[in-house]
Amino acid sequence: MAEPRTHRLVIAEVIEETADARSLVFEGTPQLPYEPGQFLTFKLPGTQGQPVTARCYSLASSPHTGEPMKVTVKRVPGGHGSNWLCDHAVPGAELEVLPPAGTFTPPGLDTDLLLVAGGSGITPVMSILKSVLTRGRARLVLLYANRSESAVIFRDELRELTEDYPDRLQVVHWLETLQGLPATDRLATELAPYAGRVAYLCGPKPLMDAAEVALRGLGATRERLHRERFFSLSGAAFGAPAAVDSSAVGSSGAGSSGAGSSGSAPDEPGSTARVELDGATHEITWPSGTPLLDALLAAGVDAPYSCREGACAACTCRVLEGEVKMTRNEVLDDVDLADGYILACQSLPLTPRVGITYS
Ligand SMILES: Cc1cc2nc3c(=O)[nH]c(=O)nc-3n(C[C@H](O)[C@H](O)[C@H](O)COP(=O)(O)OP(=O)(O)OC[C@H]3O[C@@H](n4cnc5c(N)ncnc54)[C@H](O)[C@@H]3O)c2cc1C
Ligand code: FES
Repeated sequence: MAEPRTHRLVIAEVIEETADARSLVFEGTPQLPYEPGQFLTFKLPGTQGQPVTARCYSLASSPHTGEPMKVTVKRVPGGHGSNWLCDHAVPGAELEVLPPAGTFTPPGLDTDLLLVAGGSGITPVMSILKSVLTRGRARLVLLYANRSESAVIFRDELRELTEDYPDRLQVVHWLETLQGLPATDRLATELAPYAGRVAYLCGPKPLMDAAEVALRGLGATRERLHRERFFSLSGAAFGAPAAVDSSAVGSSGAGSSGAGSSGSAPDEPGSTARVELDGATHEITWPSGTPLLDALLAAGVDAPYSCREGACAACTCRVLEGEVKMTRNEVLDDVDLADGYILACQSLPLTPRVGITYS
């Protein structure tokens, strides 16, 4: 049986994109609601003694074109999840996923964008690109780096889109076998005319670093640069939240709190969190070693979450009062942090009282 938070997707079609990348197209209408650039988290068989493992794959489809949901998986040499999917995902097979999540999403579809992708990093970029072309009015420039021509995922689809939208889409292919590595100075020359645009970068870290340094050198501000980093989750996304002594964690619609501390040593002081969520205010005891999300769930508060590993931003909330520390953060940038945003699944209290809002 699927867990309450998860959905089952049936594979309708498997497309061989390149020698080592396969797209999985899913059956189903209505589809799960998602935004361009978001990803799904898949429950996969475990490895090294773990019963299950979790891997994220960006949706390469667009929610605005009417096409079915699609992810594209590139084999990683020696990798567990990517090879399992490429070897076992066949039409008719069912996969369990968490709801779409992620913040690599454009604020609207009418703002001109610069897109930089490398290898399988094209997937969320493709979703943004198709959405903007179909539903928006913006112009797009895509710089797409690959080792060689045979490694280019979605080559034909991109060519067709440039033919369909000649005035709005420009695709610059960068092939390492012909042009060498996309180093900062050469990227700066290529990207200079578009440095004032909002930019979305996804691909190997050296490419994203080089593109970011090039764009910053051309005057692009940090707020205009958005990066999506690919990495493997540990698997906690599908486990139960960490045990919190519920006798020590209280919640009320607007006032009282539980007493004591839990999830930490008995004599460790806990904090009190006042949390605004969905129009209600909850006051709960927040044990010092317990992530805010776990304390909220244990107190019966239906707080949002997905990966529980600091990777998806589904649990983002904002500190209004007091201080917290985060143990892991893969998604919030310096601007978000300066504005007080935190990830509830990774946040521990540092002050006796903390005020939080989800609005
Ligand atoms: C938001 C997000 C979106 C993503 N979207 C996509 C996408 O659209 N397409 C895509 O292809 N990927 C995507 N990824 C990456 C994907 O989730 C996986 O990280 C990727 O497929 C590799 O997983 P794996 O299980 O095959 O490799 P892993 O098993 O995690 O291994 C990764 C590497 O580490 C090495 N390794 C593993 N274990 C050990 C060990 N014990 N000792 C030494 N080396 C080890 C492996 O040999 C391999 O080289 C995304 C990730 C994120 C976070
Ligand atoms: S639940 Fe994914 S970052 Fe917190």
